Amino acid sequence: MLLWHVLILKKDIKMRFNYECNDCKNVFETDEVVYQCPICSKEQEANTFPKGNLIVKLNKDDLAQLKQKDHVDMYDFFPFDVPDRDVYPVGNTPLARPKRLAKELGLTNLHCKLDSALPSGSFKDRASQLIAAQAIHYKMDKIALASTGNAGAAMSCAGAAYGLDIILFVPETAPVNKLMQSVLYDATVVPVKGSYDDAFALSIAYTSEFGGINRNTAYNPMTIEGKKSVSIELFEQMGRKVPDVVYVPVGDGCIFAGVYKGFYDLFEAGLIEKIPHLVCAQSTKSNAISQAFKNNHFKAIANASTRADSISVSTPANGRMAVNYIKASDGWCVEVDDEDIITAQLKLTAKAGIFVEPAAACAWAALKQDKDHLIKEFGSDVDVCVLLTGTGFKDMAVFENRVSIPKAIENSKAAVIARFKK
Ligand SMILES: Cc1ncc(COP(=O)(O)O)c(C=O)c1O
Repeated sequence: MLLWHVLILKKDIKMRFNYECNDCKNVFETDEVVYQCPICSKEQEANTFPKGNLIVKLNKDDLAQLKQKDHVDMYDFFPFDVPDRDVYPVGNTPLARPKRLAKELGLTNLHCKLDSALPSGSFKDRASQLIAAQAIHYKMDKIALASTGNAGAAMSCAGAAYGLDIILFVPETAPVNKLMQSVLYDATVVPVKGSYDDAFALSIAYTSEFGGINRNTAYNPMTIEGKKSVSIELFEQMGRKVPDVVYVPVGDGCIFAGVYKGFYDLFEAGLIEKIPHLVCAQSTKSNAISQAFKNNHFKAIANASTRADSISVSTPANGRMAVNYIKASDGWCVEVDDEDIITAQLKLTAKAGIFVEPAAACAWAALKQDKDHLIKEFGSDVDVCVLLTGTGFKDMAVFENRVSIPKAIENSKAAVIARFKK
């Protein structure tokens, strides 16, 4: 066991914790901000998933205390206090029961978790909430990150709400519509003549030079820790139980790891007896984690190119942890074609009133493709939850040449009659 230095707990730390490396399993105890395992993060090999991501491990005795409570919420499980929670109200997203589609699939206990309803329109608000709390805890007022999409928007949204400076590094070629939200939230957006990886490295250069917290996804372990809130919320929303199976859309594998971590903490607290089976839903055009799970390797793929751009990832930043958690939850992977993702998106909208972006629809498409296996394995009353991670308004361009607005009719009663007469 390696100790960076002796843990000195600050009074306002809510729950004691240390960090464990996902790869070498060394435990690090520190009250300073840390990002990656200093040993494994140096062992990167070309064309493989990165190593050295840290897991926040909560103190077992502190967790066990939570079993006594009649009601728990995410804040009970967070390492830092979240101040002024209503300033940036993250959580309590609706749990929809899409009756018409459930009937069509032959499933009687089907839920959709609508994280599209979070303040900036995506699941990434969950991570940004805890990162904002981390910055406030360490008395820092700057947060830097690299992102081309939802993470940048979510962090910028939190920055606007709390009055924190957000410095967002983006590749020069990032799509304008994805960046617009961050510009509107008044973040400092820094386009970089380079790739996402270059923007990532520059954001780290920024924090080492100017201070502040770095929120890069997977790099800062508190991103995964924040994302776990969804599972704790589900536990209470479902009447102090958890689903049998959860479908999660996956790119880098951080959301997947967060979902697992929430259930893991509930399990460690003695509040649930079993972690749900977690299903990793990917596009066939961006399937690095699924292939790694199936073929027992950690190889990057060449040029991921799914239309569901939020999950288009060649070298998943949290791929190793995600594969571990697919196994630990006795889960599996489903790969779906892009066409099926868009069909799923349109169907969820028209037949359930649920409007999500393509990345989120990937989870629904995976459930649809997997339904026979699911029913055979668990029965038609299996308790299923599909995680819908982003709103459809994020990417309206996807509907071009697929959906059109009807032509205007003349302004007359005769035109109405002509339009509707059978
Ligand atoms: C809407 C949405 N869904 C799913 C994902 C996938 O999350 P991860 O990359 O952590 O696997 C993302 C990531 O950006 C996202 O924005």
